[in-house]
Amino acid sequence: MQTILSTSYPVHFQETGYNALNEFIVSKAFKTIFILVDENTHEHCLPILQQEITAEVVFEIIEIESGEVNKNLGTCMSLWQALTDLGADRKSLLINIGGGVITDMGGFVASAYKRGIQFINIPTTLLSMVDASVGGKTGVDLGVLKNQIGLFADPEMVIIDPMYLQTLSEKEITSGMAEIIKYGLTYDESLWKQFLDETEEVDLIGMIHRSIEIKNEVVLEDRLEASLRKILNYGHTIGHAVESYFLESEHKETLTHGQAIALGMITETYISSKLLGFPEDVLAIIKKTITGIFGKVPVLPEDYDAVLDLMKHDKKNVNGQVNFVLLEGMEKCKIDCKVTPELIIESLDYYLA
Ligand code: GLY
Repeated sequence: MQTILSTSYPVHFQETGYNALNEFIVSKAFKTIFILVDENTHEHCLPILQQEITAEVVFEIIEIESGEVNKNLGTCMSLWQALTDLGADRKSLLINIGGGVITDMGGFVASAYKRGIQFINIPTTLLSMVDASVGGKTGVDLGVLKNQIGLFADPEMVIIDPMYLQTLSEKEITSGMAEIIKYGLTYDESLWKQFLDETEEVDLIGMIHRSIEIKNEVVLEDRLEASLRKILNYGHTIGHAVESYFLESEHKETLTHGQAIALGMITETYISSKLLGFPEDVLAIIKKTITGIFGKVPVLPEDYDAVLDLMKHDKKNVNGQVNFVLLEGMEKCKIDCKVTPELIIESLDYYLA
C-alpha cells in the first residue's frame, strides 16, 4: 500500500512502516524507547511490534488501563511521572500502540512532556486507523466532555498494520465502520456504495487506505478546522452528546463510538432533509443500511433533555450556538448550520421509529 504524506509526517503501511521505524531508531541513535500500551495491546499487539523492531534498543513499556474513562488528566499525570521515573529526556521517543485513547492521550502526553518529545502512533483499532491516525489532534476528556483538553501536535510517523485488527472483537471492527461510512456520505460516495452491495466482499484494507487518504486531503487543506475540516464532524454533534450521556448514565450501557456516530448520522441526515432538501429516499436507505449494521441505540424521549444539554458543550459551538454539519446531497456538506431543539427532538423520534 502506498505511503500517504500528511502535513509533516508519513503514514506508512505494513512492512514499509516497520522499515521506516527501524531506520528512524538507528538514525536518531535512541538507546531506549518508551512504548505506551494498555493491557490489551500489551498482550496482543506489542509482541508483533517487538518482533518487527530489529534495531538495537531497550524498550521501556508503560501500561495504562484500557477504556475511555481513563482518558483524562489524572492518567496523563501518572504517565508524565512514569516518563520522569524512567529517565525520559527531551530526546526520547514515545511509541503509542493502541486505539484512539492511547494515540490521542499518548500524543498529548508526549507534546507536553518537557515541552515536547517525539512520538510515533501505531493505531491498532479500525477507528483509530481511519480517524485518529491523521490530523494531529491530541488530547483527553474532561469529565464526560470528550477531547475537551488538547492540542494539535504531529507524530514523526504513523504505521498502519491491519494485522492488529485480528486482535479485535467484531464489535470493535464494526465501531470503526461508522467513520468509513462518514467519509462515504460526506466525501466519496463510492466508499458508501460498498456498504450497499451485500454481494461484494468488503475490501477492508482498501477502505482503510481510502479513508486515510480522504482524511488527509481534508486536513492538508484545513488543519486547524477553520472550515473544511468541520465536515469530519458530520454525525458527531448529536452522536457525541448521546455517547457522553450513555457514558455518564448509571442506567445505560456504554456505547461504542461507532454506535453513537451511527445514530448521529441518521438523525443529522434527517435534519438535512428537513432544512436542506437532502433526498428522503436516500435518507431512508441510509437509515436502513446503518441500523442494519449497528442496530438501534435505546435513546428514549425521557433522555432527550439531557442529550440536548450536553450538546451545549460541543466544541464547534460559537457564542453558545450549536453548529451542525449537514448534507445538501451526497458529498455535499454545509457547515455551521443552526438547528432548533425541536428539530433535533424530531430527528431522534425519526431514528427511534
Ligand atoms: N475526528 C475529526 C477530526 O479529526 O477532525
